[in-house]
Amino acid sequence: MVAPAKRKQDLFQAYYTNCSFITSYMVGLLECNNQTSVLEPCAGDGVFIDEIIRQGLNPQIKAYELNKESIEILRNKYIQNTNIEIKNEDFLLLLALFREKYDRVIANPPYGAYQTPAKRKLLKREFPSLYAKESYGLFLARSMEMLKQSGRLVFIVPDTYLTLHVHERLRKEIISKYTIESITTFPSNFFPGVNFGYAGLSIISILNSPPKRDQKIPVYSKLKSQKDLLKLLTKEKKKYEVCQLSYNQIKRNPCYAFFFPSEKWISSVLASKAKTINYYCSVVTGFYSGNDAKYLRRSPHVTRGAKKYLSINEKEICKDTDILSPPLDGINNLACWVPIVKGGNKRFYKPSEWFMNWSTEAIHEYCVTNKKKARFQNSQYYFQNGIAVPMVSSSSITASLIDGRLFDQSIVGIFPKVKYTNLTYYILGFFNTEVCNRLIRTINASTNNSANYIKKIPLLIPSNELVEQITIEVERLIKLAAKKQIQESELKKLNHYFNLIYGVEIVQQVN
Ligand SMILES: C[S@@+](CC[C@H](N)C(=O)[O-])C[C@H]1O[C@@H](n2cnc3c(N)ncnc32)[C@H](O)[C@@H]1O
Repeated sequence: MVAPAKRKQDLFQAYYTNCSFITSYMVGLLECNNQTSVLEPCAGDGVFIDEIIRQGLNPQIKAYELNKESIEILRNKYIQNTNIEIKNEDFLLLLALFREKYDRVIANPPYGAYQTPAKRKLLKREFPSLYAKESYGLFLARSMEMLKQSGRLVFIVPDTYLTLHVHERLRKEIISKYTIESITTFPSNFFPGVNFGYAGLSIISILNSPPKRDQKIPVYSKLKSQKDLLKLLTKEKKKYEVCQLSYNQIKRNPCYAFFFPSEKWISSVLASKAKTINYYCSVVTGFYSGNDAKYLRRSPHVTRGAKKYLSINEKEICKDTDILSPPLDGINNLACWVPIVKGGNKRFYKPSEWFMNWSTEAIHEYCVTNKKKARFQNSQYYFQNGIAVPMVSSSSITASLIDGRLFDQSIVGIFPKVKYTNLTYYILGFFNTEVCNRLIRTINASTNNSANYIKKIPLLIPSNELVEQITIEVERLIKLAAKKQIQESELKKLNHYFNLIYGVEIVQQVN
């Protein structure tokens, strides 16, 4: 039953589905029979067709494929099968006249396949409201259009369509016209030879029939291995259901995002009208010199990047005693290197280990001569008090103080608005908790913490008394972090406070 793990890849982004658990599950979901017509819009070597045949089914199949080598394989393989028609055509550019309707569509479309500029232009014209750079969304949209009434489509695609902003129109299109029967998510390494790192995979089954008023989508996850996929075709599937995602909830979510709250407290916080980080803070990305090898220096004790970056001389560092807040148009003396907070996951406090040239000449280069490469962005927040969250987190989100320093573009700077500066330590604490991590990973499943996702996190503010207690605890943790790296066990009290505020423990007791 098991096909050997074997991956082939080419310019066509041909990751073939060489996994019989995935193909059996998908063909199982498809529920085709000898009377149905089936479309395979990007057939590769025909793994789904093989599985349909293996299951003893004999529907009318039309398969499209762009790659001539694959076409050769398909034609040879199915030469005797009069029910299988093979077309060497670009599925995405099929003229409307030739877009027939089908009872079923099954596909593993190319993900982000390279498109020539000319083809990208054509695709933009063909799919004006969609994100043309990501080919899988285009295959999905076109295939949905080509379904007969009550027809069904089963696709395996990266899970990025669930939450990424660029796929908002695709999500809106699906939930306004179609019924999603199920979504199954699993790690990308279930797919032989693939490990995206940035995203997981998902299998989605969609019916071309208008959704019910209270339509809900069963979401299956927490699969331990590929074998578990087959259990989803049995009564055991309930074991893997993590939530029933409601269309009404999706419509209320920002950008129609498909958040999968795995626990009740997350659903109730996201469904509540709680104000988000964006309400209390400005959330912005930071500075880039355009040529860090020239303009960035490191502390002598920093060994990372020692070949690329020169070590700083103590006399060149701009200190508070020289100048309180460096002017945005640069410093006119020798001590013109300012501390900059860079990426890297450290909690509460990062010592000043990196320094940026802030001389008037350097500023001229950032803003004028090298303007195109440099990013002198959001400069009103430079040298202010705020919170730094690295754009890419390791296992969990971390945050540290910016305290009057510059911050670089790998950091999302979070600056409490004037009315809320008293909350700075409270918010710093929040960004270092398990609660915050669970919320952001629900809003966006990847480990990318871009400003747009951070803005959407609901921030609950408890009584002044509790804010004060948390502030004291965070002060303690900052002091500790300034001396040594914080151990995870030190976060217990903070996590406990925020679990109470967000109702984590209360819900667990009810369960
Ligand atoms: C990810 S592979 C999947 C192949 C096969 N369905 C499977 O699961 O093993 C995607 C296939 O789409 C083909 N392809 C890429 N762009 C295409 C297009 N515009 N029209 C038709 N086929 C295309 C590629 O050549 C490749 O074989």
